[in-house]
Amino acid sequence: MSLAEIVYSQDQIARRVEELAKQIEEDLGGERPLLISVLKGSVIFLSDLVRALQIDADIDFMSITSYSGGTGPSGVVRIVKDLEDPLEGRHAVVVEDIVDTGFSLSYLLRTLGTRNPKSIKVCALVDKRVRRIADLEVDFAGFTSDDFLVGYGLDFQGRYRNLPYLAAVSDIAALAARPDALDSLFQASPGGADK
Ligand code: IMP
Ligand code: MG
Repeated sequence: MSLAEIVYSQDQIARRVEELAKQIEEDLGGERPLLISVLKGSVIFLSDLVRALQIDADIDFMSITSYSGGTGPSGVVRIVKDLEDPLEGRHAVVVEDIVDTGFSLSYLLRTLGTRNPKSIKVCALVDKRVRRIADLEVDFAGFTSDDFLVGYGLDFQGRYRNLPYLAAVSDIAALAARPDALDSLFQASPGGADK
């Protein structure tokens, strides 16, 4: 049995990103947003999202550490790289790859909220809503999932971010034992399975 299967193809992701961009434009009433990409997972999503927007937009990057040893949420979050410019008076949209427990994002939102932005919204490629612990809403969610996903920015131990589609891993322990087990996914059809 295969360890992973494609759940969202390149084409499905592209269409969803277009829809999210429309939602963001409408929500902001044409005002110029600052898209804040949370490194590293969201950069691929951000690069497609910002090009799908038909309004001018700024981008900036933040990096936070969210997990202590990779075994679960530690509650310890630290800003490793901060924004370059002040947030005061800006419409901020935090762009995340995936919101799981929400611990890292809720910390980030609290911190950014103290900087007097005009508004802060959250746009996430994947919303793992059922696993949420922190009290927060994703304003613009691409897909919902309960699975462990790789591809399109999402990684397993730093690998598989550059798969052009999203694949669900059925057995994390088996993948941990053999981290290159999904290498064959790179040879899957270029457009992915367009389900
Ligand atoms: P949380 O919302 O604070 O639990 O953490 C979310 C972070 O955990 C994401 O930004 C990812 O780095 C990582 N993560 C959670 N679920 C997944 C997944 O399914 N695939 C890859 N990374 C994940
Ligand atoms: Mg992340």
